Amino acid sequence: MSREPPYVDLSRGFKEVLRVIEDYGVQLESLWIIPERDSSGSLRERYHGEFVAQVPRNAIVRFTKPYELVLDPFVGYGTTLVECLRLGRHGIGVEVEPGIAEVARRRVASESNPYGVRVEVVVGDSRRVDFRRLIEERGFKFVDLVIAHPPYYDIIKYGDSPANLCNAPSLREFLRWYGEVVDNVLRVLKPGSYYVLVVGDKYEDGEWVPLGFYTMSETLRRGLRLKAICVKNIEETTAKRGNVNLWRYRVLKAGTYYFKHEYVMFFRRV
Ligand SMILES: C[S@@+](CC[C@H](N)C(=O)[O-])C[C@H]1O[C@@H](n2cnc3c(N)ncnc32)[C@H](O)[C@@H]1O
Repeated sequence: MSREPPYVDLSRGFKEVLRVIEDYGVQLESLWIIPERDSSGSLRERYHGEFVAQVPRNAIVRFTKPYELVLDPFVGYGTTLVECLRLGRHGIGVEVEPGIAEVARRRVASESNPYGVRVEVVVGDSRRVDFRRLIEERGFKFVDLVIAHPPYYDIIKYGDSPANLCNAPSLREFLRWYGEVVDNVLRVLKPGSYYVLVVGDKYEDGEWVPLGFYTMSETLRRGLRLKAICVKNIEETTAKRGNVNLWRYRVLKAGTYYFKHEYVMFFRRV
């Protein structure tokens, strides 16, 4: 077993806190420039629509203690759970597409588990899953952190499940379904704990659609307190790198800008 799982523990003195911040790349500014994605271990294989591991890492190291429970209601290819294993936190991830859940399971199974935590992928619709039962059956009373990375509405088709937020029939329905997931996870999120929303905007019919601000409003309507809006860079994919001039031309013609950022929003349950 390695040493104790990392944690930004202010009671341990500033020197120790600085060590953790440096060792784990904990961001303290609202602009996050992440130059390179972590492609170690099971993260070597990449999937369209996943986030970089540095995002859940930041939230976990800063806002949970060792062995606490993290819930990801849109777990996708399992990045959050991989970080749970590496950082010594228990984790539950829910995914509506069985094929994607299988990839997450494979990833998790191929990682080592140095702290002996319990990490699990569950297939289900996060609007309807009985989270109370799910966690109690696994011996937990509360969730200590929620990391939510929903589809950016319909920009990536993750699968055919009618419950998939990417298949919502309209933007209004997408936001309603997202709100239902927030309501559902709030049933188990411990008071004082954090809810982290990772989201980007989209462009449609000549208009910028501010999904980030819309989902932020939905979240705030549930009485959560906004602690931070961080802006994270999107690193260039190999495909985009080869086509930069094409993108430049497109946005110049459309009178807009191409996406280079996403939001990482931090809310606290009061
Ligand atoms: C943006 S991706 C998350 C990617 C993830 N952070 C990763 O690194 O792999 C959103 C995921 O939410 C899933 N999803 C959409 N609607 C859902 C629902 N109602 N319940 C559970 N999962 C859902 C999608 O299938 C997709 O895999």
